[in-house]
Amino acid sequence: NQVSILNLPFSGGQPKKGTEVAPELIEQAGVQEDLENLGYSVRYIQNPSFKTPPKIEGPSKDLIKNPQYVSDVCRQVRDTVKKELSEERLVVNVGGDHSLGMGTIEGVQAVYDDACVLWIDAHADINTPESSPSKNLHGCPLAFSLGYANPVPPEFAWTKRVIDEKRLAFIGLRDLDPQERAFLRDHNIAAFTMHHVDKYGISKVVEMALEHINPGNRHPVHLSFDVDSCDPMVAPSTGTRVPGGLTFREAMYICEATAETSTLVAVDVMEVNPCLGNEEDTKNTVNLARSIIRTSLGQTLL
Ligand code: ARG
Ligand code: MN
Ligand code: MN
Ligand code: MN
Repeated sequence: NQVSILNLPFSGGQPKKGTEVAPELIEQAGVQEDLENLGYSVRYIQNPSFKTPPKIEGPSKDLIKNPQYVSDVCRQVRDTVKKELSEERLVVNVGGDHSLGMGTIEGVQAVYDDACVLWIDAHADINTPESSPSKNLHGCPLAFSLGYANPVPPEFAWTKRVIDEKRLAFIGLRDLDPQERAFLRDHNIAAFTMHHVDKYGISKVVEMALEHINPGNRHPVHLSFDVDSCDPMVAPSTGTRVPGGLTFREAMYICEATAETSTLVAVDVMEVNPCLGNEEDTKNTVNLARSIIRTSLGQTLL
Protein backbone atom coordinates (compact mmCIF):
# COMPACT_ATOMS: atom_id res chain seq x y z
CA ASN A 1 0.00 0.00 0.00
CA GLN A 2 2.12 2.81 -1.31
CA VAL A 3 1.08 6.30 -2.29
CA SER A 4 2.97 9.21 -3.82
CA ILE A 5 1.80 12.73 -3.12
CA LEU A 6 2.76 15.17 -5.84
CA ASN A 7 2.76 18.73 -4.63
CA LEU A 8 2.11 20.92 -7.66
CA PRO A 9 2.53 24.58 -6.69
CA PHE A 10 1.22 26.13 -9.88
CA SER A 11 -1.09 28.99 -10.85
CA GLY A 12 -0.07 29.60 -14.49
CA GLY A 13 -3.32 28.26 -15.95
CA GLN A 14 -5.42 31.14 -14.63
CA PRO A 15 -4.81 34.78 -13.64
CA LYS A 16 -5.17 34.71 -9.82
CA LYS A 17 -2.08 34.26 -7.67
CA GLY A 18 -2.44 31.84 -4.79
CA THR A 19 -3.09 28.29 -6.01
CA GLU A 20 0.69 27.82 -5.95
CA VAL A 21 0.74 27.97 -2.14
CA ALA A 22 -2.11 25.47 -1.64
CA PRO A 23 -0.07 22.22 -1.73
CA GLU A 24 2.11 23.30 1.17
CA LEU A 25 -0.88 24.28 3.32
CA ILE A 26 -2.74 21.10 2.46
CA GLU A 27 0.35 19.08 3.38
CA GLN A 28 0.64 20.97 6.69
CA ALA A 29 -3.00 20.16 7.46
CA GLY A 30 -1.85 16.59 8.07
CA VAL A 31 -2.36 14.61 4.87
CA GLN A 32 0.72 12.43 5.38
CA GLU A 33 -0.41 11.36 8.84
CA ASP A 34 -3.96 10.73 7.56
CA LEU A 35 -2.66 8.36 4.91
CA GLU A 36 -0.22 6.64 7.25
CA ASN A 37 -3.11 6.04 9.64
CA LEU A 38 -4.90 4.36 6.74
CA GLY A 39 -1.91 2.03 6.35
CA TYR A 40 -0.13 3.67 3.41
CA SER A 41 3.53 4.36 3.12
CA VAL A 42 3.82 7.87 1.75
CA ARG A 43 6.33 9.42 -0.61
CA TYR A 44 6.22 13.20 -0.95
CA ILE A 45 7.35 14.77 -4.20
CA GLN A 46 7.76 18.53 -4.38
CA ASN A 47 7.96 20.51 -7.57
CA PRO A 48 9.15 23.95 -6.47
CA SER A 49 10.55 24.72 -9.91
CA PHE A 50 7.02 25.48 -11.08
CA LYS A 51 7.05 28.79 -9.25
CA THR A 52 8.75 31.01 -11.82
CA PRO A 53 7.27 31.42 -15.29
CA PRO A 54 9.70 31.58 -18.19
CA LYS A 55 10.51 35.03 -19.58
CA ILE A 56 9.88 34.08 -23.18
CA GLU A 57 6.40 32.93 -24.09
CA GLY A 58 5.54 30.81 -27.11
CA PRO A 59 3.89 31.61 -30.45
CA SER A 60 0.34 30.97 -29.17
CA LYS A 61 0.46 33.79 -26.66
CA ASP A 62 -2.30 35.77 -28.40
CA LEU A 63 -4.55 32.75 -28.46
CA ILE A 64 -4.15 31.65 -24.83
CA LYS A 65 -2.35 32.83 -21.71
CA ASN A 66 1.05 31.38 -20.69
CA PRO A 67 1.06 28.53 -23.21
CA GLN A 68 4.75 27.68 -22.89
CA TYR A 69 4.76 27.79 -19.10
CA VAL A 70 1.62 25.66 -18.74
CA SER A 71 2.86 23.22 -21.34
CA ASP A 72 6.28 22.77 -19.69
CA VAL A 73 4.79 22.20 -16.25
CA CYS A 74 2.08 19.80 -17.45
CA ARG A 75 4.61 17.76 -19.34
CA GLN A 76 6.73 17.41 -16.21
CA VAL A 77 3.61 16.42 -14.29
CA ARG A 78 2.79 13.77 -16.89
CA ASP A 79 6.26 12.28 -16.54
CA THR A 80 6.21 12.24 -12.74
CA VAL A 81 2.71 10.73 -12.56
CA LYS A 82 3.75 8.09 -15.07
CA LYS A 83 6.88 7.21 -13.13
CA GLU A 84 5.15 6.91 -9.76
CA LEU A 85 2.24 4.86 -11.14
CA SER A 86 4.59 2.50 -12.93
CA GLU A 87 6.17 1.71 -9.55
CA GLU A 88 2.73 0.47 -8.51
CA ARG A 89 2.01 3.39 -6.25
CA LEU A 90 -1.21 5.36 -6.05
CA VAL A 91 -0.83 9.01 -6.95
CA VAL A 92 -2.36 12.05 -5.24
CA ASN A 93 -1.91 15.25 -7.25
CA VAL A 94 -2.28 18.36 -5.13
CA GLY A 95 -2.69 21.55 -7.17
CA GLY A 96 -2.40 24.07 -8.28
CA ASP A 97 -4.92 25.07 -10.91
CA HIS A 98 -6.82 22.58 -13.05
CA SER A 99 -4.76 23.06 -16.22
CA LEU A 100 -2.55 20.47 -14.50
CA GLY A 101 -5.26 17.95 -15.39
CA MET A 102 -3.90 17.56 -18.91
CA GLY A 103 -0.64 16.37 -17.33
CA THR A 104 -2.21 14.09 -14.74
CA ILE A 105 -4.52 12.49 -17.33
CA GLU A 106 -1.67 11.81 -19.77
CA GLY A 107 0.44 10.39 -16.96
CA VAL A 108 -2.33 8.06 -15.82
CA GLN A 109 -3.18 6.99 -19.37
CA ALA A 110 0.49 6.25 -20.10
CA VAL A 111 0.40 3.52 -17.45
CA TYR A 112 -3.31 2.55 -17.45
CA ASP A 113 -4.45 3.17 -20.98
CA ASP A 114 -8.02 2.00 -20.23
CA ALA A 115 -8.42 4.15 -17.10
CA CYS A 116 -11.58 6.22 -16.84
CA VAL A 117 -11.85 9.78 -15.58
CA LEU A 118 -14.41 11.08 -13.08
CA TRP A 119 -14.25 14.89 -13.30
CA ILE A 120 -15.89 16.68 -10.36
CA ASP A 121 -16.29 20.35 -11.21
CA ALA A 122 -18.66 23.29 -11.60
CA HIS A 123 -17.03 23.65 -15.03
CA ALA A 124 -16.38 21.17 -17.83
CA ASP A 125 -12.82 22.44 -18.58
CA ILE A 126 -13.29 21.21 -22.13
CA ASN A 127 -12.74 24.47 -24.03
CA THR A 128 -10.25 24.49 -26.86
CA PRO A 129 -7.84 27.44 -26.93
CA GLU A 130 -10.00 28.82 -29.72
CA SER A 131 -13.38 28.32 -28.04
CA SER A 132 -12.25 29.56 -24.61
CA PRO A 133 -13.89 32.91 -23.82
CA SER A 134 -11.37 33.63 -21.04
CA LYS A 135 -8.21 32.24 -22.73
CA ASN A 136 -7.28 30.71 -19.37
CA LEU A 137 -5.81 27.25 -19.79
CA HIS A 138 -7.41 25.85 -16.63
CA GLY A 139 -10.63 25.82 -18.69
CA CYS A 140 -9.02 23.67 -21.41
CA PRO A 141 -7.30 20.50 -20.08
CA LEU A 142 -9.92 17.99 -21.25
CA ALA A 143 -9.98 19.40 -24.78
CA PHE A 144 -6.32 18.39 -25.06
CA SER A 145 -6.88 14.93 -23.53
CA LEU A 146 -9.76 14.31 -25.96
CA GLY A 147 -7.91 15.70 -28.97
CA TYR A 148 -10.46 18.46 -29.65
CA ALA A 149 -8.00 21.31 -30.12
CA ASN A 150 -7.57 21.66 -33.86
CA PRO A 151 -5.03 22.83 -34.65
CA VAL A 152 -3.14 21.98 -31.47
CA PRO A 153 -1.09 25.06 -30.49
CA PRO A 154 2.59 24.25 -31.12
CA GLU A 155 3.44 24.40 -27.41
CA PHE A 156 1.02 21.52 -26.81
CA ALA A 157 2.12 19.31 -29.69
CA TRP A 158 3.11 16.64 -27.13
CA THR A 159 -0.53 16.16 -26.01
CA LYS A 160 -2.48 13.29 -27.51
CA ARG A 161 -6.05 12.05 -27.55
CA VAL A 162 -5.63 9.64 -24.65
CA ILE A 163 -9.18 9.18 -23.39
CA ASP A 164 -12.35 8.08 -25.09
CA GLU A 165 -15.57 9.97 -24.41
CA LYS A 166 -17.23 6.86 -23.02
CA ARG A 167 -14.56 6.70 -20.28
CA LEU A 168 -15.28 10.26 -19.02
CA ALA A 169 -18.04 11.50 -16.69
CA PHE A 170 -18.72 14.79 -14.95
CA ILE A 171 -20.48 15.54 -11.68
CA GLY A 172 -21.33 19.00 -10.34
CA LEU A 173 -21.56 21.01 -13.58
CA ARG A 174 -23.36 24.36 -13.46
CA ASP A 175 -21.31 26.85 -15.48
CA LEU A 176 -20.70 25.92 -19.11
CA ASP A 177 -19.58 27.93 -22.12
CA PRO A 178 -21.47 27.50 -25.43
CA GLN A 179 -18.86 25.34 -27.16
CA GLU A 180 -18.49 23.20 -24.03
CA ARG A 181 -22.22 22.42 -24.13
CA ALA A 182 -21.90 21.50 -27.78
CA PHE A 183 -18.99 19.12 -27.10
CA LEU A 184 -20.83 17.39 -24.26
CA ARG A 185 -23.96 17.00 -26.36
CA ASP A 186 -22.34 16.04 -29.69
CA HIS A 187 -20.03 13.46 -28.12
CA ASN A 188 -22.64 12.04 -25.73
CA ILE A 189 -20.47 12.60 -22.68
CA ALA A 190 -21.96 11.59 -19.32
CA ALA A 191 -22.49 15.02 -17.78
CA PHE A 192 -24.28 15.14 -14.43
CA THR A 193 -25.13 18.72 -13.53
CA MET A 194 -26.36 20.03 -10.19
CA HIS A 195 -29.85 19.60 -11.64
CA HIS A 196 -29.24 15.85 -11.72
CA VAL A 197 -27.86 15.89 -8.19
CA ASP A 198 -31.08 17.60 -7.03
CA LYS A 199 -33.29 15.30 -9.05
CA TYR A 200 -31.76 11.88 -8.28
CA GLY A 201 -29.66 12.49 -5.19
CA ILE A 202 -25.90 12.11 -5.05
CA SER A 203 -25.84 8.33 -4.49
CA LYS A 204 -27.81 7.62 -7.67
CA VAL A 205 -25.76 10.13 -9.66
CA VAL A 206 -22.45 8.57 -8.61
CA GLU A 207 -23.83 5.12 -9.34
CA MET A 208 -24.94 6.19 -12.84
CA ALA A 209 -21.65 7.96 -13.54
CA LEU A 210 -19.51 4.99 -12.48
CA GLU A 211 -21.77 2.48 -14.24
CA HIS A 212 -21.41 4.52 -17.44
CA ILE A 213 -17.63 4.88 -17.46
CA ASN A 214 -16.72 1.71 -15.59
CA PRO A 215 -19.30 -1.06 -15.98
CA GLY A 216 -18.42 -4.01 -13.78
CA ASN A 217 -15.59 -2.02 -12.20
CA ARG A 218 -13.11 -3.43 -14.68
CA HIS A 219 -11.17 -0.23 -15.31
CA PRO A 220 -8.86 1.86 -13.13
CA VAL A 221 -10.39 5.16 -12.03
CA HIS A 222 -8.81 8.61 -12.05
CA LEU A 223 -10.76 11.03 -9.86
CA SER A 224 -10.11 14.68 -10.70
CA PHE A 225 -11.62 16.92 -8.06
CA ASP A 226 -11.91 20.68 -8.58
CA VAL A 227 -12.96 22.15 -5.22
CA ASP A 228 -15.17 24.69 -7.01
CA SER A 229 -17.58 21.78 -7.60
CA CYS A 230 -18.52 22.39 -3.99
CA ASP A 231 -20.74 25.25 -2.96
CA PRO A 232 -18.91 28.52 -2.22
CA MET A 233 -20.06 28.10 1.41
CA VAL A 234 -18.09 24.83 1.53
CA ALA A 235 -15.13 25.88 -0.65
CA PRO A 236 -14.89 29.67 -0.41
CA SER A 237 -11.18 29.95 -1.23
CA THR A 238 -11.19 29.19 -4.93
CA GLY A 239 -10.84 31.35 -8.03
CA THR A 240 -14.01 30.65 -10.01
CA ARG A 241 -16.82 30.25 -7.48
CA VAL A 242 -20.28 29.32 -8.73
CA PRO A 243 -23.34 29.31 -6.45
CA GLY A 244 -25.44 26.18 -6.02
CA GLY A 245 -22.73 23.55 -5.63
CA LEU A 246 -22.16 20.29 -3.79
CA THR A 247 -22.51 20.12 -0.03
CA PHE A 248 -19.60 18.82 2.03
CA ARG A 249 -21.32 15.46 2.44
CA GLU A 250 -22.12 15.16 -1.26
CA ALA A 251 -18.44 15.73 -2.02
CA MET A 252 -17.44 13.11 0.54
CA TYR A 253 -20.02 10.69 -0.80
CA ILE A 254 -18.41 10.85 -4.24
CA CYS A 255 -15.03 10.03 -2.67
CA GLU A 256 -16.47 7.23 -0.52
CA ALA A 257 -18.32 5.61 -3.40
CA THR A 258 -15.22 5.78 -5.58
CA ALA A 259 -13.07 4.28 -2.81
CA GLU A 260 -15.56 1.44 -2.37
CA THR A 261 -14.97 0.29 -5.94
CA SER A 262 -11.27 -0.37 -5.13
CA THR A 263 -10.36 0.84 -8.62
CA LEU A 264 -8.85 4.23 -7.79
CA VAL A 265 -5.32 4.79 -9.12
CA ALA A 266 -5.06 8.58 -8.99
CA VAL A 267 -6.81 11.52 -7.40
CA ASP A 268 -6.35 15.23 -8.21
CA VAL A 269 -7.33 17.98 -5.77
CA MET A 270 -7.27 21.26 -7.62
CA GLU A 271 -8.07 24.99 -7.46
CA VAL A 272 -7.66 25.67 -3.74
CA ASN A 273 -6.56 29.31 -3.53
CA PRO A 274 -5.60 30.19 0.06
CA CYS A 275 -5.12 33.87 -0.90
CA LEU A 276 -8.85 34.32 -1.52
CA GLY A 277 -11.27 34.90 1.35
CA ASN A 278 -10.51 35.34 5.05
CA GLU A 279 -8.56 33.08 7.38
CA GLU A 280 -11.62 30.98 8.17
CA ASP A 281 -12.37 30.53 4.45
CA THR A 282 -8.83 29.34 3.80
CA LYS A 283 -8.92 26.93 6.72
CA ASN A 284 -12.22 25.43 5.57
CA THR A 285 -11.11 25.03 1.96
CA VAL A 286 -7.75 23.49 2.90
CA ASN A 287 -9.55 21.08 5.24
CA LEU A 288 -11.96 20.17 2.46
CA ALA A 289 -8.98 19.24 0.27
CA ARG A 290 -7.52 17.13 3.07
CA SER A 291 -10.87 15.36 3.50
CA ILE A 292 -11.18 14.67 -0.23
CA ILE A 293 -7.76 13.01 -0.19
CA ARG A 294 -8.19 10.78 2.86
CA THR A 295 -11.76 9.84 1.95
CA SER A 296 -10.99 8.84 -1.62
CA LEU A 297 -8.09 6.78 -0.25
CA GLY A 298 -10.41 4.82 1.97
CA GLN A 299 -11.17 6.66 5.19
CA THR A 300 -14.72 5.84 6.28
CA LEU A 301 -16.88 7.43 8.96
CA LEU A 302 -17.22 4.24 10.96
N1 ARG B 1 -15.23 27.86 -18.52
C1 ARG B 1 -14.47 28.95 -17.98
C2 ARG B 1 -13.22 29.21 -18.82
O1 ARG B 1 -12.98 28.54 -19.80
C3 ARG B 1 -14.10 28.69 -16.53
C4 ARG B 1 -13.12 27.58 -16.33
C5 ARG B 1 -12.82 27.35 -14.87
N2 ARG B 1 -11.93 26.25 -14.70
C6 ARG B 1 -11.48 25.82 -13.53
N3 ARG B 1 -10.62 24.81 -13.56
N4 ARG B 1 -11.84 26.37 -12.40
O2 ARG B 1 -12.48 30.08 -18.53
MN1 MN C 1 -6.37 5.79 -22.98
MN1 MN D 1 -14.00 24.53 -11.87
MN1 MN E 1 -11.73 22.58 -13.09
